[in-house]
Amino acid sequence: MKDYIKVDEWKIIEEGFDPHYNKISESIFSLGNGRMGQRANFEEAYSGETLQGNYVAGVYYPDKTRVGWWKNGYPEYFAKVLNAANWIGIDIDIDGEQLDLAACTIQQFSRELNMKEGYLKRTFTATTKAGKQVSVESIRFCSMADDETGAIRYTLTPLNFDGEIVITPFVDGDVKNKDANYDEKFWDEVKKGTAANGAFVQLRTKKTGFEVATGMRVKITQNNSPVQPEFLSIQKEKYVALQTTIEVVKNQPIVIYKYAANVSSQNYDAATLQDVLKATLQRISDKGFDTMLAEQAAAWAEKWKHNDIIIEGDASAQQGIRFNIFQLNQTYTGEDDRLNIGPKGFTGEKYGGSTYWDTEAYCVPFYLATAPQNVTRNLLLYRYKQLGKAIENAASLGFKDGAALYPMVTMDGTECHNEWEITFEEIHRNGAIAYAIYNYVRYTGDEAYLADYGLEVLIAIARFWSQRVNWSEDKQQYVMLGVTGPNEYENNINNNWYTSKLAVWCMKYALKVAEQVKTTDIAKYNALIAKISFNGGDEATKWNDIIEKMYYPYSEKLGVFLQQDGYLDKEQILVKDLPASDRPINQKWSWDRILRSCFIKQADVLQGIYFFEDEYDMDTIRRNFDFYEPRTVHESSLSPCVHAILAAKLGDEARAYEFYLRTSRLDLDDYNNDTEDGCHTTSMAGTWMSVVEGFGGMRVKDGKLSFQPFLPAKWNSFSFHVGFRGTLLNVKVSKEGVQITNNSDTETTVLIYGKEQLVQANADVILEAQ
Ligand code: BGC
Repeated sequence: MKDYIKVDEWKIIEEGFDPHYNKISESIFSLGNGRMGQRANFEEAYSGETLQGNYVAGVYYPDKTRVGWWKNGYPEYFAKVLNAANWIGIDIDIDGEQLDLAACTIQQFSRELNMKEGYLKRTFTATTKAGKQVSVESIRFCSMADDETGAIRYTLTPLNFDGEIVITPFVDGDVKNKDANYDEKFWDEVKKGTAANGAFVQLRTKKTGFEVATGMRVKITQNNSPVQPEFLSIQKEKYVALQTTIEVVKNQPIVIYKYAANVSSQNYDAATLQDVLKATLQRISDKGFDTMLAEQAAAWAEKWKHNDIIIEGDASAQQGIRFNIFQLNQTYTGEDDRLNIGPKGFTGEKYGGSTYWDTEAYCVPFYLATAPQNVTRNLLLYRYKQLGKAIENAASLGFKDGAALYPMVTMDGTECHNEWEITFEEIHRNGAIAYAIYNYVRYTGDEAYLADYGLEVLIAIARFWSQRVNWSEDKQQYVMLGVTGPNEYENNINNNWYTSKLAVWCMKYALKVAEQVKTTDIAKYNALIAKISFNGGDEATKWNDIIEKMYYPYSEKLGVFLQQDGYLDKEQILVKDLPASDRPINQKWSWDRILRSCFIKQADVLQGIYFFEDEYDMDTIRRNFDFYEPRTVHESSLSPCVHAILAAKLGDEARAYEFYLRTSRLDLDDYNNDTEDGCHTTSMAGTWMSVVEGFGGMRVKDGKLSFQPFLPAKWNSFSFHVGFRGTLLNVKVSKEGVQITNNSDTETTVLIYGKEQLVQANADVILEAQ
């Protein structure tokens, strides 16, 4: 745990430079706009520890799988989001010495991420070995308003000398992924070029053939007047630069404006990329830095209008929640149904930038409430479009008749994961995809989605489950063998309660939706069943039989659902009795020891109770929570939020708050010692859930929003925005009571503590605290 980030409600601030924290800060201060993103690397050279990272959404490379022992069914490739051309670079040379903070003496340093307006600011004063002192202020952003572009304003002031400075802004495509399996480079050069004040490189990914053209335009002013430098063109493999020497005068700033753009063959014909890039760079450099920055602030103001959570009385919690919301918005904007949300967003390479069940289980609730409906719809369509591959994936494992198994990890629908106990066994992810469809329809009321797309996915998923279970003669029930639940600290177990529960729910839901579509849109229903040869008779009979006769492990003695068969045979030790030196167990213990222990990585039975809470009474929820939580080490960032929500539901406000704290500042405080790999972007949606579903107690009940709020003791108030079926509500919970303001022209009825309340258009209701 670190605490070097300064508390501020709208900014993330680092003061002073500690090279040991540099890679952590590079993750935390990352920028993105849904289309591209980058770690907070320095513009000038840095020879210290750094992880260079620039990413273009959806542009990936299938890296050949590397495993110790090949198993049939493993995917050939792991698709990775590529480290792409670095467009931020500006080399500065002062009297033959490169400006490099690892080599200079640093007098002042600060990094500031302005979340309100969406930019990164860095300042420093440093002295070179030769004693030349300069101060620098750089401001840069990835434009939200114009998402293929970004800009930098780099101001350099010589503080104790007059003399020559050589400035070399560049675009460098000769970059590598740190996580490359065979140390290969993934890009080939297509073309490059320099012009009077601009340069570009166009690269093509090996194997996948994506082309990305990255370019820059450079403008320089000195002492507030434009300089028209003669640039020297420098070209190397996949690298272009413009170089100029400027006579600088003590205390007179020079300002380098670097306008940059990434355009890719995903969106344009590859043959036209150079022209598109040129026009884009012309557009933004004509517009100018200040206008672009103002547009950026306006775009972020619009985001915050729908997303912000305000916490009064706890600046650190306020900073934490805004940081989470900020990163989620930087990662996914929902404009493109080919894109998704990697667990690290654009902040690092870990997890390959690919899609996990995190999206459906954790991110969907956030985007449903804070973004227009089509944003979540696009997340669902992403999976719909990959249904064919999910069916192929299942077929390659021996399933048939249109059964679909969605991949554990994917970019384009192809499975990329290659550890048998997860690839083949952590199949609960299939259920999360069905659950997201349910969640979307429950929230938006968009029943038409089911007829158009949802039912087809649901049937394919249900088909998989019906083939994945088998009849046990011994038990005279259906069982599901050889699975891994969300708790990855148990592998190859039999009858994981959560997976079996979800599987049966999927079959029930598929049957229900099939009936519904049949009733509401028989033409679409008939077209679909013909397309996918759905036998509503025999198949439905089989599914109903499984629904009726599924086996779920249960302890009569404890009155809890058993995580799996035999869970109680394990030595039952509680996490509180584990020595601190043994934690995290995934770093301190052998895998064998972890597998044999009772310790739980993340919500498993409790994930099921969270999904299906309406099926259980409070006593059941409490018994399961009180049994499982004390055995849970929360070593996945996805864990605390589910526990926060359930603790809140159980009225355990203190514990709910404790879990919330663990998720909210996870990256800012580097709680798990791994932020240098990137931020835990998908679990940030879980933090939002902890506030809105936990403290706000928000649920959807029969097409209405329902709130069961409480105010954490440390706070004076908190408030959040939710969009729901055409209304935009602000919910404020304070010591005075609950206030719901309807900032839209449509009236709506909500439930507060179970009681219906009409909220007129552009009006509010107040429920005073008793
Ligand atoms: C968790 C998974 C999750 C993955 C990516 C793992 O540590 O156990 O549930 O999907 O991280 O976030």
